[in-house]
Parts: sequence; C-alpha cells; structure tokens
Amino acid sequence: MNEHSINNILTKGIWYHTVEYNNIKSKGTFDYTKIIDSLNFPRMDDLEVLDVGCSDGFFSMYFLKNLNAKKVTGVDINKYDGSIAFEVLDTYKENYIEKYDERNDFNYLIDDYKILELKDPNKFNFLKKIYGLNMDFIEGSIYELENIENHDVTFCGSLLEHLRDPVSAIENLYLKTNKMCIIDISNTIKNRYVNLFRPYLKYTNSGGNFFHYSEKAVKLMMKNVGFKNIKTLKRYRIKIEKYGYKIPHSILIGYKD
Ligand SMILES: C[S@@+](CC[C@H](N)C(=O)[O-])C[C@H]1O[C@@H](n2cnc3c(N)ncnc32)[C@H](O)[C@@H]1O
Repeated sequence: MNEHSINNILTKGIWYHTVEYNNIKSKGTFDYTKIIDSLNFPRMDDLEVLDVGCSDGFFSMYFLKNLNAKKVTGVDINKYDGSIAFEVLDTYKENYIEKYDERNDFNYLIDDYKILELKDPNKFNFLKKIYGLNMDFIEGSIYELENIENHDVTFCGSLLEHLRDPVSAIENLYLKTNKMCIIDISNTIKNRYVNLFRPYLKYTNSGGNFFHYSEKAVKLMMKNVGFKNIKTLKRYRIKIEKYGYKIPHSILIGYKD
C-alpha cells in the first residue's frame, strides 16, 4: 500500500477521532487513545457488532482489535459527498451546508484516496483498508434499520443528542440487538445542575443538536423499550482538542434478557 498517501490522509485529512498508524497520529476532534481502555467496555469475543453512527470507525476498530469482536457493521447517515450528515432544522441548513463543505477533505486529498482505491473520504473504509479489518460500512439512518440483520451487540456512540426522536432511535437499537446494547451519551446534563436520579431532557435550541440528557432519562428510555439490567459502565470527560474544554459522557449498557 502507498504509505505516502496513507500518511497524507492521516496528517492532512479531517478526522473526528485521533487514530494512530505506524507512529503517525491523525488530528482528531477527540483523542480517545489514552482513555479508551478505561471505559469498561465488555469483551466481545466472537460477537458481531452493529455500530450505529459509526463515523470514522474508531470504536468499531477498537471492538475488533482490542475486544476481539468477530465482525463489525458500521452504519452512518454520512454520504461522504460533502452534504450534511445530521438531522438539521431548515432554519439552520445554510450554516451547516457551509460547515460540512469545509470539512470535506476529498477536495484536496482526492489523489491520495484514489491511489488507495477509495471512492470517497469515508475514514471507516480507510481504516478497514489499512488495517485489513473485518468491518463493513452501510450508509443509513438509525431510524431505518429494518433491512439490517440483528447483531449480538449494538453500539451507539455520541449520537443521541443529535436526534430529534431519541425514543424511536433506542427502540430501533433494541429491535436489532440479540444480547446487549451499549449507548455512549455525550453532553450528559451535569449532576450539579439536576438530581442525577431524575429523567431530564434539556432542549438545546440549535440546528444539529436537539437534546441533552440526564443519565436517568436514557436509562428510562432503554427500560421502556424493553432492555433489562441497565447499568452505567462509565462516566468520563473528554476534551475537544480545538477548544480545550471537556465534555461529560456516560456509557450505559442494557441487555436483551
Ligand atoms: C458525534 S458523531 C459520533 C461518532 C462515534 N460514534 C463516537 O462515538 O465517537 C455522530 C455520528 O452519527 C452520524 N449520524 C447523524 N445522524 C445519524 C442518523 N440519523 N443515523 C445514523 N447516523 C447518524 C453522523 O454522521 C456522525 O458520524
């Protein structure tokens, strides 16, 4: 494989996560590399995983390489053609069209993607290729998972706050789960503002973000769609590299039986 093109995409491309390849790191919005092992994800030996809202596949790759998952299917609404990859209110569309176009590194790295025989700047497929991983990408929405088969594990990371209908989304995860579902909630409402034990939603009043949640709210949604034995795996904070401030997260797990 052409190492020069790989390095160009890693160092000059737009990345959501920091990933490392042969000691070269991408500059991600978030660098999970040092904390990922402390997030208490369960082993996934021989299990098939559905990663909904998979983005660049950082977590999919971790499940395969570190937790021994058998296979990962990644689903993301991103078409990788520069168009908006979130539900956005019409009133905010213009702003987001611009923002997304600026984040399309295909505009200046097209030759490198072509050399690697990649037809678009989908980093999930880039990681699949350079590491030879058993993972497949499906373009699609969390609201439309009907044609995807059930998986042992479903994972949905940092997507809920971007959805206008979290209950249907979690119900769809339930319908696709055979064993367990793991949800990472970003921007959890801070415990010092609300009683942690109350199911709060805060409407965030902006285009691509709809709600912030208290942990209890998501647990209750998971319970009401049918998940059992719901627990918190981890509470953590992760820095947005560009701005330096930290965002609170909670990772929850629920079981089918
Ligand atoms: C904030 S990123 C999170 C990426 C990764 N899962 C993580 O935990 O870091 C959310 C991802 O969800 C995708 N997305 C947005 N709306 C979606 C939808 N309705 N269905 C599936 N994916 C969606 C976005 O394109 C983006 O890649």
